[in-house]
Amino acid sequence: MVKVIFVCLGNICRSPMAEMMFSNLVHQQGLDANFDISSMSTSTYEIGNPPHPGAIAELKKQHVPIIEHVGKQITTYDFENADVIIGMDDQNIEDLKEMAPVGTEDKLHLAYDVMSVHKVIKDPWYDHRFDRTFQELNEVLPLWLKKLSN
Ligand code: 4NP
Repeated sequence: MVKVIFVCLGNICRSPMAEMMFSNLVHQQGLDANFDISSMSTSTYEIGNPPHPGAIAELKKQHVPIIEHVGKQITTYDFENADVIIGMDDQNIEDLKEMAPVGTEDKLHLAYDVMSVHKVIKDPWYDHRFDRTFQELNEVLPLWLKKLSN
């Protein structure tokens, strides 16, 4: 069982989209039993809140099944329990490094690390470009699935 946590600032836009898209890919490959997939925030801003309506609308448009979700902040337990923690941008990684208990830093990766390029999943919070978020995640998530399935 591979335990994967997707992380962004608020856990209502990018990381829930990543969770639902990755869960869909895993399901399509018949690998549900091999993965424990969740998403969390670095901040406290959106704890208890549902995903952004723009994120849900884009996922529906792309035929990605919607999973019940409310914003939650990553905890010490989550760092220790996870196998892989995937952040969306550089600030996420900086914040995660500060929060990470000793010995868990190696679990932290940027989403685009899997393509060996320095790029970020841009924050759609201000411009509502959830279509761009989908396209960016759609580039990297199949590669993460391949990497984590080996
Ligand atoms: P996310 O987007 O990190 O992709 O979930 C944001 C959500 C909330 C805020 C910023 C970004 N906020 O400032 O509350």
